Amino acid sequence: MIIPASAESIQRAAQALAAGEVVGIPTETVYGLAANAFDARAVARIFELKNRPAVNPLIAHLSSLDRVSLVATISAGSKLDRQIERLSVLIPGPLSLILPSNGRVVSAVTAGKTSIAVRIPQHPTALQILSRCEFPVAAPSANISNYVSPTTARHVLDGFGEALSLIIDGGPCQVGIESTILSLIDDAPRVLRSGSIPAEVLADILHVPLADLLDTSGHSPESPTAPGMMREHYSPRTPLYLLETLTELPHGKRAGVVSFNESNPLSPGFDYVSITYLSSQGELAEVSRNLFAALRQLDEAGLDLIVVDTCSEAGIGRAIMDRLRRASARSNNQ
Ligand code: TXA
Ligand code: MG
Repeated sequence: MIIPASAESIQRAAQALAAGEVVGIPTETVYGLAANAFDARAVARIFELKNRPAVNPLIAHLSSLDRVSLVATISAGSKLDRQIERLSVLIPGPLSLILPSNGRVVSAVTAGKTSIAVRIPQHPTALQILSRCEFPVAAPSANISNYVSPTTARHVLDGFGEALSLIIDGGPCQVGIESTILSLIDDAPRVLRSGSIPAEVLADILHVPLADLLDTSGHSPESPTAPGMMREHYSPRTPLYLLETLTELPHGKRAGVVSFNESNPLSPGFDYVSITYLSSQGELAEVSRNLFAALRQLDEAGLDLIVVDTCSEAGIGRAIMDRLRRASARSNNQ
């Protein structure tokens, strides 16, 4: 059931979490499927609902950085402590930090790893729910594994139906793409997943070269370090192609086109049944906000293929292209 965010429903969500239930909650990035990270049965239910492989760890959500010792071990004055202090200008926000776990969350949350992903979201409803919880809240994106992440309460309902008894509606997500994941557990910090906080900003704050932050050599894309980096994530069911890889649209096929910019005309030879503009001026924050909803909508439209615009891979464009490359991986491999 979807209930609009209100003082009452926020209280109800916090109570449901404390009682071991799984609740759909809004965040500024995407909707989350939330449960008490100290409750093994509740966490198991997340994996079951999502059909998520047990090797893929979850992010622990907290209401404030002050509570990080609930899940992670950080020695005062250590290099890690100083890094977090610098990053605190971005918190709360669409940033997840990989930190040394203190081992208190149930092992399914970290998939048995010694590190833990921690995020303090910025969405007021999420923060209010979290501040009413005495425990960390594990919350993956509220989609069935490998499908497109949800950016509205309706998307969550579409995925889980009545299996999920409570979904709090906090409106459409303002960021629209999952948080940036920054690992701080090795000697050198590394971006494991691009998001709306660009690696450029993190490099600046941490005083490290951008190339080092983005360097994932030695970590294959299938590495369990961040299973979210596996290919074929975030795919709609309809085959998805990147516009840059096509010189013409196949004739006799029903194609839906997604364009980033109203003023960029497509080549005249392109034959399509629908075109969706994600931004009037090609503004990438707007593109990311609208992207997943557009993919889900086109996936329901009975098309033969979805063709999506591209952008340069810098700033938030890196996150947009990362998601699109994964979504198109299956089509491009055929
Ligand atoms: O924006 C977000 O981060 C959303 C909202 C709900 O907060 N959550 C989200 O969670 O995207 P999820 O589970 O869909 O993606 C979390 C990613 C996964 O790719 C997982 O492998 C990675 O974080 N992850 C979690 N713990 C990790 C760890 N200890 N080390 C490396 N990667 C980790
Ligand atoms: Mg996810």
